Order: sequence, then C-alpha cells, then structure tokens
Amino acid sequence: MTAIVLYCRPGFEKECGAEIQEKASWNEVYGYLELSKNQGVVYFHLNKPEEGEVLMEKIPLRRLIFARQWFVTVTEKIDLPDYNRVEAIVEALGTEWQYADLRMETPDTNDGKELSKFCRKLAVPLRQALRKEKILTEKGNKDGAVLHALFLSGKEVIFGFSLALNTSPHVMGIPRLKFPNAAPSRSTLKLDEAFLYFIPKEEWDIRLTSGMNAVDLGAAPGGWTYQLVRRGMMVTSIDNGPMAESLMETGQVKHRTMDGFKYVPQKKNVYWLVCDMIEKPQRVAKLMSEWLLKGLCQEAIFNLKLPMKGRYQQVNDDLQTMKDAFSLHNVKYELFAKHLYYDREEVTVHARLLSPPPTDI
Ligand SMILES: C[S@@+](CC[C@H](N)C(=O)[O-])C[C@H]1O[C@@H](n2cnc3c(N)ncnc32)[C@H](O)[C@@H]1O
Repeated sequence: MTAIVLYCRPGFEKECGAEIQEKASWNEVYGYLELSKNQGVVYFHLNKPEEGEVLMEKIPLRRLIFARQWFVTVTEKIDLPDYNRVEAIVEALGTEWQYADLRMETPDTNDGKELSKFCRKLAVPLRQALRKEKILTEKGNKDGAVLHALFLSGKEVIFGFSLALNTSPHVMGIPRLKFPNAAPSRSTLKLDEAFLYFIPKEEWDIRLTSGMNAVDLGAAPGGWTYQLVRRGMMVTSIDNGPMAESLMETGQVKHRTMDGFKYVPQKKNVYWLVCDMIEKPQRVAKLMSEWLLKGLCQEAIFNLKLPMKGRYQQVNDDLQTMKDAFSLHNVKYELFAKHLYYDREEVTVHARLLSPPPTDI
C-alpha cells in the first residue's frame, strides 16, 4: 500500500498527522494515519496510491508546520537479510525509476542515532550499486526525484521518493548548525535556523544585511541579538534582564529595560523585528500584526509557544488571527510557520507584508 511518510519531532506525531490529513482532504485525497508514539514518523496510507505524487506536487512542504521532511513510498517495508543487503535492496527497488540523490535516514530517536552509524557504513556500497544499475543518476538534476531510505532498524527499511523542488535539502529535514562560541545563549541556534529556513540564501544580501536596523523583543541574554549583530545590524534589544557584555561592547546594541509590549520605535526605520518573549501566543501574534500593519518593521520572525494540548488547533487559530488582520486591511502578505529543529516547544513564524502597509492605522 502506498503511503506518504512524514518526519516530525518525536512527540508531535498527532499534530503532524492531523495536518497532512486535513491538507490532503482539501485536495480531495483521503487515507488513514498510522502513528508510532515518540518515533517522529507518521504514515499517511492513501486510499488511492496514484494520489501520492499528485499530493506532493500540490502541497508545498513549506506549508506544513509540523513535518520536517516527507516522501511517497515506493516499496513496502523490506526485511533486510544479514548478508547481501545491498543486493536485496537493489532487487526490491527494480530499475523502473531513476533518482538524482539518495538520503539515508532513520527516525530522530536515540535508537535512530545508533542506527545512523550502520547507515553510514552501508551508504557507500549502496550508492555504488545504485549508480551501476542507473537507479541513481547524476547528482544536481534539480528536477529529479530524491530517493529516501528510511531505516527502522538494521533489519527493516522502507524506500520512497520526494520531488527535488519540494523537499528539504537536509537529511531528515534537520540542518546541522554549529553553536557559535561567542554567542551568549543556545537560543541563538533558533534564529540561525529560522533565517536559514525562511529566507532564501540568494536574498540574504538584500534582506539580511549589514547596516539594517533591528529590534529584538525579549532579548536577554542576547542569543538572537548576536545573530543580528554578526550580520552587521544595529539592534535595539528589549528586556528587563541583562544583556551579555560582549554584545554591548560591539557598539551595535542599544539595551532598553522595559516591557516588549510597550516599546514603540521612534522612527520607521526598523527592517527586522524578532521576538522570543515567553508569552501567550495570541498576544504575541497580535503584537506582530500591529508592528507590520503600522509599518514599524518590514519583516518579523517570532515564536508562538505551544500549549500542552490542542497544539495544531492553537497554532492555526493564532495564524488565522494574523491572516484576518492582514485581510481586513487589504494587504498582501507572506506568512509561514514551522516547528524547527532547534526549537522544541515553539512554532517559529515568519511574516512580511508584500504590499505597503495601510496609511489609516
Ligand atoms: C527565551 S528568553 C529569550 C532568549 C533570547 N532570545 C536569547 O537568545 O538569548 C525570553 C526572554 O523574554 C523576556 N520577556 C518575557 N516577557 C517580556 C516582556 N513582556 N517584555 C520584555 N521581555 C520579556 C524574558 O525576560 C526573557 O529574557
């Protein structure tokens, strides 16, 4: 049976499943879910197998909040023998389809991490064999399909493909970021990943560049401010808590000890607003819409704290409040949300207006 397999953070299988089922039904594609608790893998078994590829063409992966990566199955679960595993895989795959790349993947669990050593060893002979059989063709074919091997154990693997133009560039959808030693908190990786995920690299020169003004709400001790400073920006950091001395010494940071909900910049020259305040998500979403609609910033990245229950519903409601506010004022906008790897408890949102803000606010 054909399924769409989605990877998410372990513990968020229900949200990931609810989301794919809902978005598939908007496209009149139906199926049932198979979830294994805390495995970070969701199977959406399709009633009509041929609809798998159709769905992956219709739904941009960027539109899924909880899925990091996905593929449509091309094999059932394959039982691997103790010897001649490569031969068994090649035989199961057949030579009908060609792929531009191979990703060796495991669930994002402790067992999965152990398994990845086994995968690394197997990767070299498997790639060679797949190339020899022309199942794997030249890399860099952007329109090609990516072959995913999801190892559930050393004895069980499932294969599938994603479309190169609608897939995460990272193995298992997880970017591997290095913690910069000079950053004052580990939170820094959250904004680093958010910029990497939401802003295309080829636009960094215009949208993430030196000389811009930025505001960081809930900034202390300064992990997010660090990301802005290291890109050459001038930052106003708002928090009652202390900022790291090393950041203040750069001369690029002004620290204001006050409530982030009350701060209003004096001039409309702020490009980036970032916000990591631990606050009710409804309040944060409202504040962010106001900044954008009043033209106080051009782009915003912020976190929405997830509740213990009804997490998918809550995020949808918060995003809907923002969409309603933008629609009410007839502005075009871009609004994307993702449950990023370096941010366990929150969903990160990127918002920007694509048309000028209204003049009557
Ligand atoms: C998760 S920490 C921020 C970490 C920071 N982004 C970093 O990378 O170092 C949340 C911060 O929000 C601040 N905060 C919470 N509510 C706030 C408010 N209403 N106004 C200003 N700061 C607030 C807290 O003092 C705390 O320092």
